[in-house]
Amino acid sequence: MSEILKLENINYSYIDGGYERQILKDLSYSFEEGKFYTVLGPSGSGKTTLLSIIAGLDTPNSGEIYFDGKNIKEIGLHKYRRNAISIVFQQYNLISYLTALENVMLAMSETDNPLPKDRKNVAYNLLARFGIVKSKADRMVNQLSGGEQQRVAIARSLASNVNLIFADEPTGNLDTATEKEIIAIFKELSHEFSKTIIVVTHSDTVSAMSDQRVLLRDGKLSEIQ
Ligand SMILES: Nc1ncnc2c1ncn2[C@@H]1O[C@H](COP(=O)(O)OP(=O)(O)OP(=O)(O)O)[C@@H](O)[C@H]1O
Ligand SMILES: [Mg+2]
Repeated sequence: MSEILKLENINYSYIDGGYERQILKDLSYSFEEGKFYTVLGPSGSGKTTLLSIIAGLDTPNSGEIYFDGKNIKEIGLHKYRRNAISIVFQQYNLISYLTALENVMLAMSETDNPLPKDRKNVAYNLLARFGIVKSKADRMVNQLSGGEQQRVAIARSLASNVNLIFADEPTGNLDTATEKEIIAIFKELSHEFSKTIIVVTHSDTVSAMSDQRVLLRDGKLSEIQ
């Protein structure tokens, strides 16, 4: 499998009450294409910080990030965010006054990636694939259950045709049965569409379903066999 996202000697610290606290220390790791990863680690170890750095929402103090062999600084962080990644949040972060369909179609308009012409149909089909049938797709998202909203968020993350999908505790608000269904979807996506999926989680159920578990501890990532 080929390397899609490479982190090289990443250092990152917060200034907290006048003190510098280093969260990521010379962190290096390579994520491969088409693999489903979970990132584990104690609360406060820096998992959310790491996600925001690899998503180009924040920049490290030093170190480099390469997407498909290109430094993301060279690609441009804005372009990298538009065309390479999608993020799924614990709180779904859908736009509540839009329907599920409109949320998915909005994501299609926020990328430069080539997309099919018949966007509406593609969006309906994408949602249907995750169990959001037309009658639900036409509903405002706040009239859907938490599990349904997370399915919409996953459909949205795919709509822009990106390679990398990141999620921060995406099943934190869901029951175990729904959690398993959602994670099975992630797994299927990574294998069927060759997406690289990186999910931060505290759940053993979730990590057990991933292809590779990675531990963030003392500022570094290591693989759990
Ligand atoms: N903006 C900030 N300014 C200062 N310190 C911060 C900031 N954001 C996070 N931190 C600190 O950095 C550390 C890592 O935070 P982070 O949110 O990345 O941890 P986490 O591994 O995601 O934890 P959790 O599992 O609880 O979500 C924590 O000690 C946190 O208090
Ligand atoms: Mg966190």
